Amino acid sequence: MVKICCIGAGYVGGPTMAVIALKCPSIEVAVVDISVSRIAAWNSDQLPIYEPGLDGVVKQCRGKNLFFSTDVEKHVCEADIVFVSVNTPTKTRGLGAGKAADLTYWESAARMIADVSKSDKIVVEKSTVPVKTAEAIEKILTHNSKGIKFQILSNPEFLAEGTAIQDLFEPDRVLIGGRDTPEGQKAIQALKDVYAQWVPEDRILTTNLWSAELSKLAANAFLAQRISSVNAMSALCEATGANIQQVSYAVGKDSRIGPKFLNASVGFGGSCFQKDILNLVYICECNGLPDVAEYWKQVIKINDYQKSRFVNRVVASMFNTVANKKIAILGFAFKKDTGDTRETPAIDVCKGLLGDKARLSIYDPQVTEDQIQRDLTMNKFDWDHPIHLQPMSPSTVKQVRVSWDAYESTKDAHCLCILTEWDEFKTLDYQRIYDNMQKPAFVFDGRNIVDVDKLREIGFIVYSIGKPLDPWLKDMPAVA
Ligand code: UDX
Ligand code: UDX
Ligand code: ADP
Repeated sequence: MVKICCIGAGYVGGPTMAVIALKCPSIEVAVVDISVSRIAAWNSDQLPIYEPGLDGVVKQCRGKNLFFSTDVEKHVCEADIVFVSVNTPTKTRGLGAGKAADLTYWESAARMIADVSKSDKIVVEKSTVPVKTAEAIEKILTHNSKGIKFQILSNPEFLAEGTAIQDLFEPDRVLIGGRDTPEGQKAIQALKDVYAQWVPEDRILTTNLWSAELSKLAANAFLAQRISSVNAMSALCEATGANIQQVSYAVGKDSRIGPKFLNASVGFGGSCFQKDILNLVYICECNGLPDVAEYWKQVIKINDYQKSRFVNRVVASMFNTVANKKIAILGFAFKKDTGDTRETPAIDVCKGLLGDKARLSIYDPQVTEDQIQRDLTMNKFDWDHPIHLQPMSPSTVKQVRVSWDAYESTKDAHCLCILTEWDEFKTLDYQRIYDNMQKPAFVFDGRNIVDVDKLREIGFIVYSIGKPLDPWLKDMPAVA
């Protein structure tokens, strides 16, 4: 029986291994983590991450051929294939601070693998890492190997949160990079055999190590660039009276462009996009390509612009002051169908409004009060450390209340801001919400999910990203 061990039971490692276990009953899969509470949650009825369909998959395999454990060394020692899916935060100090990936956790995992291994192993890079990390890891492993042979593969994960299980069941492609030696090719084949149990062969692509590593950064950079492109257009739409949804639709009808991933928003978030682009920028700079670095930096600049533009719009519309006004925030997760708040645009928007002394009442169906408070007090880039190593939050933000109900959160509010596209926000009783709000009552839709005409009929002043402006908003100071 082939044994697989995955180091890191996070958003990537957990769902990916659960699906491998489900699709490959003859393989024993152990997912290990240094976080005791995270492993306890994986072994309970309350999984540590919210992901549609994940519960069912875990329940079918857990205790049969899927195990979650904190005994990292034992499972690594026994495994034939070791996936590494640990945190790769952005460095906050020293060389490359604010851009380069901090490989501390990766390096410590690699040293541990070398230390405890008693048989040959295939080591698979699963977390996104800078190009040529595999080479560095290979060096650590071979210089500490005590005669054991390691083959390194890069097998980046392309799943998106909220649709992880579906993405894993039917991936657009699986990418496996490895060495061009007979041993490297044999390792590639071994991993291919795992995926081939449910993924059609023509969707399993094999490349050299660096192409695989770079493809992941490139794919995320292209996706983020699409959103920054449509978001940049949304500003122009507001200025000219065009409608971004009509423009996106027309543009996406060109089969060379395609219709997906063209929704204007308050900005992209998530653990990957910004981090991977910063990484790409750093790699370009290190390789003497400042013009290429500059090009990709713009994607992040526009994303930051979009978030601050939203805050400015809210403040400007409400007579240039939100001091002591109650603002309802609907949605805090970085997208719908996840409780994940990593790099969510809601953090920057809320911080911006708090900077103008607003009082916030936040509601998200999946994010806890504790998480929201932690996010609003944490420093940039601090989120991406193993949970128990995250810095303590200095204190809670007093102007922030977290509510478990959209109606409660909007009661007596001056405005409501939709920051996540949760389906339930489309079907709220907006008449009831309007009746209980201060007047004039504003809606700022950062995800373009509300029916603007209907809300205007009720009496709301409505702002929806990239759509023709309400006369009220046109009369207010220009927003840059
Ligand atoms: C992304 C990639 O899609 C995935 O392939 C990779 O493995 C990890 O990074 P994820 O971050 O989970 O996945 O979610 P994604 O659906 O890509 O959304 C990222 C952000 O972009 C979200 O904040 C989302 O709201 C935003 N977005 C997405 C838009 O603003 N508009 C869109 O049209 C699509
Ligand atoms: C373009 C648009 O495609 C068309 O829809 C619009 O009506 C007019 O402008 P055109 O300029 O005729 O059409 O040719 P196109 O095929 O788009 O190529 C434009 C340039 O991009 C060419 O120099 C082409 O060589 C280059 N190109 C195109 C690339 O370098 N790489 C590609 O993958 C595609
Ligand atoms: P991702 O979204 O990439 O899956 P997460 O932060 O959700 O990232 O998961 C990474 C996991 O890796 C965390 O649960 C963390 O505790 C774990 N981890 C980090 N370093 C180690 C290590 N050296 N050994 C075992 N687990 C680790």
